[in-house]
Amino acid sequence: MTHIRSEIIGTGHYLPSKVVTNDDLAKIVDTSDEWIVERTGIKSRRIVAEGELTSDLCVNASKMALKNANLKAEDVDAVIIATITADNITPAVATKVAAELGVKTGVPAFDISAACSGFIYALTIADNMIKLNQAKRALVVGAESLSKITDWTDRNTCILFGDGAGAVVLQAKEGKGTNADTGLLTAKIYADGSGYEQLKTTGGVSLTESTGKLWMNGKEVFKYAIPAMAGSIEAVLGDVGASLDDVDWVIPHQANIRIIDGVAKKLNLDNSKVIITVDHQANTSAATIPLALSEAVEEGKIKKGDLIALTAMGAGFTWGGALVRY
Ligand code: UT7
Repeated sequence: MTHIRSEIIGTGHYLPSKVVTNDDLAKIVDTSDEWIVERTGIKSRRIVAEGELTSDLCVNASKMALKNANLKAEDVDAVIIATITADNITPAVATKVAAELGVKTGVPAFDISAACSGFIYALTIADNMIKLNQAKRALVVGAESLSKITDWTDRNTCILFGDGAGAVVLQAKEGKGTNADTGLLTAKIYADGSGYEQLKTTGGVSLTESTGKLWMNGKEVFKYAIPAMAGSIEAVLGDVGASLDDVDWVIPHQANIRIIDGVAKKLNLDNSKVIITVDHQANTSAATIPLALSEAVEEGKIKKGDLIALTAMGAGFTWGGALVRY
């Protein structure tokens, strides 16, 4: 029997050039570099420039991913963007990005809204499209301009977020159906709407006819995140009969170093296998995983054949995990 896998053949990322340090934030809210580093592990974050849009972040990250895949935009036959900060409420920013990149007319392009878990949701959907032969090559992007919905007067949240984008190009590849195949081996996505109020924008189209600003019950989200993320890694490993010893790298969603350390501790995972970007990027929601993946590939940490576990948790609540043989 032929097994189709979605292989990652190109990765890319883009960060806005403006760096905002903890000391910069201490000038606008009652906080300190010491508090932020100790409680979150964040030292700095990138913020979009005036007039720089989420679509610009997507286009830059996608160009790098396409270049690394040795492809042109016209070779892509699906564009999926995970974001909660699209340029407009409608249309989907994916349609704008596809047009700006030069993707062929008629190719489907749409956004996914699953907050910090958005990239794993988007990857899952793209993989299913590839397996159903609805696409041979998909561009999957996670991108956010969270600075646009950050409440810059709220020290509980404004220290946590950043802007950026990461992208991957997926391509159908026939495999044997074993864990040695390159590509996405398995993915699982979950939601629990009882957490709806715990992390949200204070407004919305139908609620207030405005976007509102990010608000969070940090402690509740924190408590939920560790078992959800650790559990999703165990679930994807169980799916393919692999163990953590088989995994070369874990890329967790980057919200808080204490959450990442908590997940590692719960799984008895060696910290040296965990990719960390939260220190210099903060929480870029749907963008953290593809950003970290692309940076780790660029730095030569992740090599062909490595087994990578991805996990994320965020607003909704939503969460999920994936296993990729790079
Ligand atoms: O993508 C998934 C989303 N998840 C997340 O983004 C993160 C989830 N939650 C967290 O990361 C943590 O809960 C936070 C970093 C948000 C907060 O950390 P914490 O250790 O839970 O702190 P806390 O909320 O219990 O606050 C402790 C104290 C409070 O003062 P009192 O009431 O003890 O006097 C806060 O008012 O720290 C105060 N505080 C701050 N102090 C200085 C809160 N924010 C700040 C701040 N600077 N920025």
